[in-house]
Amino acid sequence: MLVYIHIPYCDSKCHYCSFNTYVDKFDTRQDYMKALHKQLSFELERFSAKENSIETLFIGGGTPSTVAPELYAPIFAFLKPYLQEEAEITTEANPNSATKEWLSGMRDLGVNRVSFGVQSFNADKLKALNRAHDPQQAKDAILYAKSLGFTHLSLDLIYNYQGDTKTLLLNDIVQAFALPIDHISAYELTIEAGTKFSDTPEVRQENEDLAFFVSDEIEKRGFKAYEISNFGTYQSKHNKGYWEIKNYIGAGAGAVGFLKDTRFYPQTAHRKLY
Ligand SMILES: C[S@@+](CC[C@H](N)C(=O)[O-])C[C@H]1O[C@@H](n2cnc3c(N)ncnc32)[C@H](O)[C@@H]1O
Ligand code: SF4
Repeated sequence: MLVYIHIPYCDSKCHYCSFNTYVDKFDTRQDYMKALHKQLSFELERFSAKENSIETLFIGGGTPSTVAPELYAPIFAFLKPYLQEEAEITTEANPNSATKEWLSGMRDLGVNRVSFGVQSFNADKLKALNRAHDPQQAKDAILYAKSLGFTHLSLDLIYNYQGDTKTLLLNDIVQAFALPIDHISAYELTIEAGTKFSDTPEVRQENEDLAFFVSDEIEKRGFKAYEISNFGTYQSKHNKGYWEIKNYIGAGAGAVGFLKDTRFYPQTAHRKLY
C-alpha cells in the first residue's frame, strides 16, 4: 500500500500551476496537520491497514517545506508501526524553503528521499514562471540535502516554455547532472485552466523535437526513462506503484485515494471505477 499526503501551502503561485494550493492560509497550518492526522487514522481503518503494510509514503503539494518538521512529527509517530522498515519516504521541497534545518528535521523523522522543484537553472526563466528561488538556491538546497545523508535526491524540470531552446535546456540538464541526484522528473509545460498562463497559452511551445531532445540528453547521461516523465538510476517505488495499480491512501485537501475498484476524492462522494 502507498500513502500520499498533500500539503496545500505555497509561498507564491507559479504561473503554470493549477494544483490545490494557497498562499494566504499559513495560519491554518497547525489545524491542518491535526486534521491530516485524523484523516490518516480514518483511512488506515478504511484500508484495513496492518503493521508493516506501507511500502511508500509521499509528501507532496503544494510545498511541504512550508511546514516545520515539528508539525509532521505526530503524523510520523502515528504511521511508524505501519511503515515497512525499508519504506521509501519522499518529500517534495522548494529550494527557497528547504533550509538545512528543515531538511535535517525531515531526515530525523525518517524521510529518505527529497524531490526538489527546480524547474530550470536559468534565472530569467525562473522569474517568468514566477518561481520563488534562483538557480543558486536550488543548487545549495540539493548539496545540503546530500551532505545530510539523504539516500535519494531528485529534481523537477519543465520544458517547452516559449523561450526554451536546445542550448537553454542542455544547460539545465548539464547543471542537473553536476548535482548529486539519482532521479529527474522532466515535465512538458501544460497550460491549465485558471492559471496565469491560461491567459497567454502561447507561452507553451508545441515542439516535439525539444521533448525528444530532453529525454535523449537525460538518457545519454545514464538516467533510464522508466515512466513518461521520470528518469533515474533509481526508480521511485511510489511513482511506479500508481502504474502497478497498487492501493493508495490519499490524505489532505488535494489528495485522491484508491482501493481495489474505488477512488476517493476530498469533499465528494467516492466513485466506483468498474
Ligand atoms: C506538486 S508540483 C510542486 C512541488 C513543489 N511545490 C515545487 O513547486 O517544486 C510537482 C511538479 O509538477 C510540475 N508541474 C506543475 N504544474 C505543471 C504544469 N502546468 N506543466 C508542467 N509541469 C508542471 C512542476 O515541475 C512541479 O515541480
Ligand atoms: S509549482 Fe509548486 S510552488 Fe509553484 S504553485 Fe505549484 S505547488 Fe506551489
